[in-house]
Amino acid sequence: MYTLELKNIAERLMADDKGLLAMDESLGTCNKRFKALGIPETEEFRRKYRELIVTTPNLEESISGAILFEETLYQKTETGTSFLDILEHKGIISGIKVDKGVVLLPKFPGEKIAEGLDGMRERLAGYYELGLRFAKFRAVIAIDEGIPTKTCIKANAFTLGRYAALCQEAGIVPVVEPEVLMDGDHSIQRCAEVTRDVLKAVFNELYEQRVSLEGMILKPNMILPGLACSDQRDTEEIAAETITSFLRVVPAAVGGIAFLSGGQAYQLASERLNMMQHRYGQLMPWPLTFSFSRAIQQPALDIWKGEDKNKEAAQEMLYHRAACNSAARRAEYSA
Ligand code: 13P
Repeated sequence: MYTLELKNIAERLMADDKGLLAMDESLGTCNKRFKALGIPETEEFRRKYRELIVTTPNLEESISGAILFEETLYQKTETGTSFLDILEHKGIISGIKVDKGVVLLPKFPGEKIAEGLDGMRERLAGYYELGLRFAKFRAVIAIDEGIPTKTCIKANAFTLGRYAALCQEAGIVPVVEPEVLMDGDHSIQRCAEVTRDVLKAVFNELYEQRVSLEGMILKPNMILPGLACSDQRDTEEIAAETITSFLRVVPAAVGGIAFLSGGQAYQLASERLNMMQHRYGQLMPWPLTFSFSRAIQQPALDIWKGEDKNKEAAQEMLYHRAACNSAARRAEYSA
């Protein structure tokens, strides 16, 4: 019943060379990043940090949508304005992370399954009421000897399909995130094979579960050699492997593709997106952009360090990295 509305939201999220800002670190992940910099791991410091982000001047020039974490939905600025109102005022669409993280897949050592489907219909209805129009659900697939197994891929793909169908029923655009992790010493070819297998399984489930592809966004990993692989590849090869694979397995009808950064150095993430647009911009049937967390936020967090006196400089860095990635989408990025 929401088919056209969903398509319009997906189009707005992908419009004008903008991208998504994933500011949805779970409590554990956010605290881990704070701890590394000596920032107190408290709700108040997480609130201050998210205030810094949403009040960054002109962020809307490069960011179309912000993915929030549940805690952030109800938080306000020091002066009492809700973060959701601030984003709306800027014309940034609010979204939310709805998975509940990943747990060990029983009987499959080293593999994980994403959780969070229980009660999702009711949660999504509440989010729609609050004005949220898109949601993200992340599954992770690890590469190692003998893994991923078909069972792990199938179980995660099925879960992503269930989530996406529930979102669309609620008028919410699903951002479907099957992340093939960078950890390990595997080659770029192995990452390409695994990523293709995963995407094929995911799109099969989306089809079987009657998800409208026009009203969804895919949030994939780039195709990269493992972090510990001795055979690292240059930007051209990474762009070629990624786009060639996606052309084979991502249907032309999807509303868009928005990459996760997954722990790449932030300049590399921008360079690689830039190269994909530069070389293949004309070939691609789908809009291609970013949905980065670390590759936009980390340099700003490093500057802020939890101190008010650093807030403005951190906001300038955040604005800058967001603008860099928007430039990459236009194939105009230079480091
Ligand atoms: P990174 O860009 O840091 O990988 O985060 C994206 C994300 O949303 C992970 O779920």
